[in-house]
Amino acid sequence: MKKILLIGNGAREHVMAETLKNSRHGVELFAVGKTKNPGIADLCEEYMLADVCDEDSIREFANRVRPDMAVIGPEAPIAEGITDMLLENGIKSASPLASVGRLETSKSFARDLLTKYKIPGNPKYKVFFNEDGLSDIFDELGDDFVVKADGLKGGKGVKVSGDHLNGKEEGMNYARECLEEAGRVVIEEKLVGQEFSLMCFCDGQSISAMPCVQDHKRAYEGDKGPNTGGMGSYSAPDHLLPFLSNKDVNEAFYINERVLEAIYKETDAHFKGVMYGGFILTKNGVKLIEYNARFGDPEVMNVLPLLKTDFVDVCDAIINDSLDELELEFEHKATVCKYVVPEGYPDNPVKNEQVNVSEEILTNEPGLKLYYASVDERDDGLYLAGSRALAFVGIAETIEEAEAKAQKAVESVKGPVFFRKDIGTRELIDSKIEMMNKIRGV
Ligand code: AMP
Ligand code: GLY
Repeated sequence: MKKILLIGNGAREHVMAETLKNSRHGVELFAVGKTKNPGIADLCEEYMLADVCDEDSIREFANRVRPDMAVIGPEAPIAEGITDMLLENGIKSASPLASVGRLETSKSFARDLLTKYKIPGNPKYKVFFNEDGLSDIFDELGDDFVVKADGLKGGKGVKVSGDHLNGKEEGMNYARECLEEAGRVVIEEKLVGQEFSLMCFCDGQSISAMPCVQDHKRAYEGDKGPNTGGMGSYSAPDHLLPFLSNKDVNEAFYINERVLEAIYKETDAHFKGVMYGGFILTKNGVKLIEYNARFGDPEVMNVLPLLKTDFVDVCDAIINDSLDELELEFEHKATVCKYVVPEGYPDNPVKNEQVNVSEEILTNEPGLKLYYASVDERDDGLYLAGSRALAFVGIAETIEEAEAKAQKAVESVKGPVFFRKDIGTRELIDSKIEMMNKIRGV
């Protein structure tokens, strides 16, 4: 029997909890979450309601429980050094220390790391600490620029020309805002192509890839509207994506491998946990959009349900530097994940309103899973807590079948919510393949 401390209360942590509980070792889970996630609550021995960055409460809880290991889901506690604090208290985590978590928390750190260690994948970019030279970079990039707030923004601090910003003046104004807020801003070339996520387990020296996933960051159908944490995602039975070849994935994997080496050289600390490369396939090959130091949400819901290897063994191997001795296996199935989010999300989400989900749909539909996210379970039911609320995952032999399962489920939810009907549909996927063919001149 293993005691595991799990930090986080989203759908990502719900699927992590489920996968840990499926271990042949037998697992007792102890969870820390800001709101009560009913899915995690059902799976754990004890659920402490606390902010996931509340160092004192987590220390006290961990020292009372004395888990065999900890797993941290979200980026904020990693950035705040909860992994470091646990280690100081003798508890090892399958998650990164804050020093290497900078790969995610600082966009300039990630870009500069690639430059310094001559790793391919960067677009043209420049980091600014003040307005000197700011005007010149906008002149150089013309109409194709991206302005990135240099810190954790839940995927909402990035503004892209043509979508969120029009012309140099709006770009300069947002860049000034970022400078005022954080003292630093990254301006970079706008890349055109199809994005994909390649998440890898890392023990500091060895690295193993998970199936590729495509997330949909835009709030509305047709990939329009503001950026969100991710509205849904899909993966294919061959672990590639319909627009992605083995060669493309190898390019991305090579970048992750090199970054793993580089980050150790740079910080003297091993990166342990999940290295999530957010890539984009362009006409000039694979480029890096950003790094995350954790599982992607929703992407984790595409991959963990397919993991055949015991997840506790994977976490143990991450902690004990033995990932190279473990053969990672994933089922060859398609998955489609769709999020149900509050009306008004991401800018003005409805909160504290009831949302009803019938668990009956799960019993009647094999290959369908429900993960609870930003909802609060109260005595009289489930309430929207303001961010992405419920995630449904269809798992089947083909993407079409998996999509149909997820779609049927999101339609059954009652409350002031919306979702993206198009994610995982043949039509949307075909448009992505066509776009790539056009860009590559096929
Ligand atoms: P990030 O938080 O860095 O993942 O950025 C959020 C989203 O902004 C990405 O998923 C992309 O859609 C977009 N984005 C970020 N950087 C670029 C870039 N250099 N070119 C085009 N789009 C970008
Ligand atoms: N799927 C986007 C993220 O986890 O950051």
